[in-house]
Formats: sequence, C-alpha cells, structure tokens
Amino acid sequence: MTDIVGYDLDGDIGIITLDNPPVNALGHELRAGIVAALDTALADKGAEAIVIRAAGRTFPAGADIREFGRPPQDPWLPEVCNRIEAATKPVVAALHGTALGGGFELALAAHFRIAAADAVVGLPEVKLGLLPGAGGTQRAPRLCGGRHALDLMLSARPVPARKALEIGLLDEVAEDDLYHAALALARKAANGGLPPRPTRERRRGFADPVAYEQAVREWREKLANSPLPAPGRIVDCVEAALLLPFEAGLEFERAAFEELMNSPQSAALRHVFLAERRAAKQPELKQAEPRPINRVGVIGSGLMGSGIAVTMLDAGLPVTLIERDQESLQAGISRIETIYARAAARGRLDEQEAGLRLARLSGAPDPGALGDADLVIEAVPEDMEMKKAVLAAAGRATRPGTILATNTSYLDVNALQVSVPRPENLIGLHFFSPAHVMKLLEIVVARQTAPDVVATAFALARRIGKVPVRAGVGDGFIGNRVLTAWRQAADEMLEEGATPCQIDAAMREFGFRLGPYQVLDLAGLDISWARRKRLASTRDPEERYVEIGDMMCELGWFGQKAGKGYYLYDSGDRRGRENPDMLALLDELRAARGISPRHFPADEIRNRCLAAMANQGARLVEEEIARCPGDVDVVMVHGFGFPRWRGGPMQAADAWGLLQVRKQLQEMAEGNPKFWTPAPLLNELIKNGMKFASLNG
Ligand code: 3HC
Repeated sequence: MTDIVGYDLDGDIGIITLDNPPVNALGHELRAGIVAALDTALADKGAEAIVIRAAGRTFPAGADIREFGRPPQDPWLPEVCNRIEAATKPVVAALHGTALGGGFELALAAHFRIAAADAVVGLPEVKLGLLPGAGGTQRAPRLCGGRHALDLMLSARPVPARKALEIGLLDEVAEDDLYHAALALARKAANGGLPPRPTRERRRGFADPVAYEQAVREWREKLANSPLPAPGRIVDCVEAALLLPFEAGLEFERAAFEELMNSPQSAALRHVFLAERRAAKQPELKQAEPRPINRVGVIGSGLMGSGIAVTMLDAGLPVTLIERDQESLQAGISRIETIYARAAARGRLDEQEAGLRLARLSGAPDPGALGDADLVIEAVPEDMEMKKAVLAAAGRATRPGTILATNTSYLDVNALQVSVPRPENLIGLHFFSPAHVMKLLEIVVARQTAPDVVATAFALARRIGKVPVRAGVGDGFIGNRVLTAWRQAADEMLEEGATPCQIDAAMREFGFRLGPYQVLDLAGLDISWARRKRLASTRDPEERYVEIGDMMCELGWFGQKAGKGYYLYDSGDRRGRENPDMLALLDELRAARGISPRHFPADEIRNRCLAAMANQGARLVEEEIARCPGDVDVVMVHGFGFPRWRGGPMQAADAWGLLQVRKQLQEMAEGNPKFWTPAPLLNELIKNGMKFASLNG
C-alpha cells in the first residue's frame, strides 16, 4: 500500500491501518490511501469484513487544517466517507486517542464503531468557524438525535467513549485490547451476527421528532446574537438532517461548509489555531533537552505569586512559597486556600482533590528553603532593585542547575541577569493576572539565557496548560506594548471628543468582552499611574501625552475599588454607569488644550485602535521582540481578550487591508508623528504585495 496507509489480512478480516503522524490528519495522501486500501479490501476474497484503525497516538483528529484555503484535491473527505458507507463488506472503525472532526466523521460513515475506553470523540469544527463537512451533521443526528448532536457540534467538547456509547454514537467500548475487540466485532458482522447498517439509513435519532425540533428551536434562540455564522449554520444543517432526504442533506451541508470556509471568521480562527502551535515551537526545543522540574519555589505571595503557585499545584508540582516574614507567608497561604475553597464551592473541583493539591504546598519566611527547587519564580513587586536582591538571594540558596524566573511585566531581564550568579539560568516568565486562570505565558528570553532553560520553560508551559509565546527583552515585552499603544489611541480620542462609554462600546461591538476603560477600572488606575510616574523622566517630549489618567488618579479615582473611575460604581455594582464628573474633567482638559470636541463614530474608534495595535505589532516584529506577527496575535487573544474570531490585531489588519491600515496611520501622523508613523515593515510588506501572515512561516 502507501507509506501512510497499510493493508493486511488478519484471518478473514482486512485491516486498514492509517499511519500519518502526529495526529493522522486526513490530508490528501491519507484520503487517497484510504480509498485505495478500501478497494483492495473489497477485492480481497480472503476478507469477509474490514477494520479501519490507526497507528500512533490517535485515530484521525480531523481533516488537515493546513490544506484549508487551498484548491481541494480529489478524493474529498465526504467522498471517502460515502465510499466507506457504501462498502459491500461490513466496515468497523476502531477508535483510540482523539477521534475528532473529519476523523470522527470517517467513523460515523463506517457500519460499526468501537472505541478504546480512554478514547474521546467529537466534532469541534465550530472552533475553527466551520461545521462538520464530511457528512457529520447528517449522520450524527441519525444516531444520537438532535439534542445530543447539537451539543456535540456547538459545544465542540469531546465526549468520552462511554458517554458516546450511551448516546448511540458508538456500538461498543473495548475494555482491554481495542484491536482484538474490533476483530471480534468485524467477525460477528461478517458471520451475519450483525446486520449491515449504513448510517444514512438509521432512524434511531429521529425517534422523537418533536424533541428534535425543540432542540433546534432552543439553540436557534440561544444563538440569535452570535457574531459568528458557523453555529447558526450547524443548527440549519441538523434541522435539514431531519427534514431532507440524506443526499439532499449532504448537499445542504456541503454548501454551508464552503460558505463558512470562505468566511473571514473561519480564516481568523484557523489562523489562531496554527499560530498557537507555531508559537509553542522553538529552535531550542530541537537543540536542547528540557531540564527536569519536580519542585517549584515561588517568591512573593501577593495576587500574582499565589496565582502562580496555584497553577503549579494544579499541574501536580509541589510548591515552596517564600515570603519575607511569617505573617505575609500566612496571608499568602490563606489566599491560596481561598482560591481552592472557591473552586470547590463552585463545583469545579471536589474538596478531596482541593485538599490533595493544598497538601503539596509548603512555605518558609526565608529563601534558604529553596535548596531542592528545580525552578524558582519570583513574583515580588515591580521594582528593579527589589527583584535584583530577591533573585540574588534565590541564586545563592539554590543548586547550580536551578532555573530562576522573573515574573516581571516591564523590567529589563538582561539587567536582572547581571544580579544572579548564573545568568544563563535566568529567564522571564510573564504570567497574566489572575495567573491560575489566564492562559497566556510570555517567555522572555534574555541575552544570556541558556537554550535548555528556554526549552524547559516551553515544556513547563505545556505541563501547566498555558499558551506560551516567546518574547525578546523590551519594555512591556509583546502584550503590554500593544496594550499601551491601544490605550494611547483611545486616550487621544477621549481628548478629542469621545467618551469612555463610546470607546468601550465600539470595542465590545468589535468583539472584546470589555472595553479598555472598563478593564482599567477593573485593574485599578493606580497601577498604571505608578508606572507612568516611574517612567516620567524617560518620557519622550515629542510624543503626545494625554493627562486624563493622571488627573483622575490625583483625585483618588482609582476605578472599581474606589467606586469611581472612568465609570461610577454604586455599592456592589461591577458594571458601572457613566461618570458625569469624568465628562466634566474631560471638558476641562479639552478647554485647556484648545480642542473643540467632536463626535467619533464607532468604526473610526475601531479603526484607530486597530491601526495603533497593528503598527505597534509591526514594530515588535522589526525589533525581534516578537518572532512573527502570529505571536503578537496569540498574545493579544490569550492575554488581552482580543476576539479569537478576529484572529488578533495582525490578522485583523490583514483582513482590513494593509493599505487601509497605512492610510489610517498617515491620517493620524500629523498630530503625533512618533507614535503614528507607519512602521517600515508595514511599508515593506505593502511594497512587496505581502501581508503580515506572509511572515508567519
Ligand atoms: N490538521 C493538521 N494538523 C493538525 C490537526 C489537524 N486537524 N490537528 C492537530 N494537528 C497538528 C498540530 O498542528 C501539531 O503539529 P506540530 O506538531 O507540527 O505543531 C500536532 O498536530 C499536534 O497537535 P497539538 O500540539 O495540538 O497536540 P495535542 O496533543 O495538544 O492535541 C489534538 C491534539 C486534540 C488533536 C489537537 O491538536 C486538536 O484539537 N486538533 C484539532 C482538531 C480539530 O479541530 N479537528 C477538526 C478539523 S476540521 C475538519 O475535520 C473538517 C471536516 O469536518 C471536513
């Protein structure tokens, strides 16, 4: 057969084995191989029935996402599925690992499905802005009914084998040996013990059409305001499964799939999927072995330190917490206990498990307790001298191979390396608050950081379930720099006539859950004020500086915690309402600057913000602080709530058109040239007819 599809005879059963690592994605070669192997098996007089199984870690996890957007090549996956279903000998699909998307659709087209007990199955296409396009929307409801099928496709959550058996998607779960159980099932089918059953002819899922239609209606209502087309089209297809003949349903599904494949939302979601995986790949991972990490030390147990400790405990790593005195240590431990108590109260974790995780926590008021730590993360306040002292002490207290990490948001990690005895062991691990919730981890590689330390940081990120992105050293790394640019653009509009409500509403309409001023109020305005004061002496006098944030802080308007910030918060209210004093303050500021306010339409607000973010992203790539535009996107999606379906600022800029972005920047450049002048990289891309995506490799 081919290199990636094998065919053997085991007794009287033909065995087709798919072997396309890492996840058996159903690319063209695999699809062609399956069709050829199926023909061979059908022609093989010795084969009474056929088993399709996979080698390696999983049954196919889907169509090959890298082929999307390119001209389709025969045979298409729907065609492969139809061929399997039409086979004149019984076909058994033997599933292990993660049988997802097109992989599970392949199985749905087989006559029988058996799965390993630890396998999961699912139809997660909606996460890519798509729908199951190889018959899944038509076959799954025939087996499990409308409600389960809609849950499966719209939640995108994989279902464990036993649950899939219970709802009718599987015929058997193999308790021990999947291969032999699949052989037995195939033999039983071959001997007439089981009738041949093309899924298209099954009616089990249509047994209660009233409940089916009710599920369709409920989902349709729930999705009425979704900005994404895919969920609604999934509902349409599942409804069509009940109403149309099978072939017509398949055609309906195909048309909807193609429409979605060409949608900007799907392009953006596919981009983020691939960008996340690219971001996790580092040259160091090829050159160097990660160091083993069996115990972690965390210095500082404030909001950040305790969140980091919880992240490590959740991943099964014992943690030693270090504080400056017993009282602070106790406060830190209490913070961690509270996080677990809340998780248990909300049913996210049972109390026994919470207790087990807490039992892995120890603490001491002295870095001397860090002797057996393999990694020490400092999370003390953002003060260069304090961080230097803490890291130097940690360096003295630990073994030569221990990795030291600084959780700084802005400080120069090259400068911090100077303070430790073994600078090659120091790296930046920038967690985002709350650290046990936020997925992003910026891994800051400083001048002297050793390759195996970088490799360890990426391996750790995977272990603790974070999305890692490599960042070079530079004020604010990737995320905070883009954020600062976004806020600058927004502040300029405030000064020129917009209100915080208008700006936030425009960004929410774009897809953010919260606008920039809502986030500032939530985080506390004093935090960025302290930083501005610290950097005041280094501020470039040529850059436009909007004073509104400083004016508010001088009045003690620190945001939600003070009951007053960009919004007013009545007691217990977290949503806030327009703050009239803030509007008066803005009028004062505008008058002092001689600015006559004007109205800003929502699209202008969005365009200015997006242009500022993308231009800053381009500078980060030029300065090699971000390796590629895709990394900037991953940071903004996972750390700053940029809507995933917009793909991040660089992808959104590509979709808008780089010429348009440049035009917007140039329009702004007169008022604040240093900030708004288009990055040279942007001009270069335009000149060469390229996009940011062209640099993602
Ligand atoms: N196509 C191409 N490559 C894929 C892929 C796919 N569907 N799924 C995973 N990969 C690749 C990844 O890019 C990565 O490649 P790399 O090693 O070169 O970086 C490698 O497989 C391993 O992936 P992960 O790092 O994500 O490994 P995990 O073990 O963490 O997760 C997984 C495995 C659960 C399978 C996860 O990769 C996943 O969720 N994949 C996507 C599943 C999916 O969405 N399937 C539907 C696709 S659309 C479809 O099928 C359309 C059809 O209806 C017509």
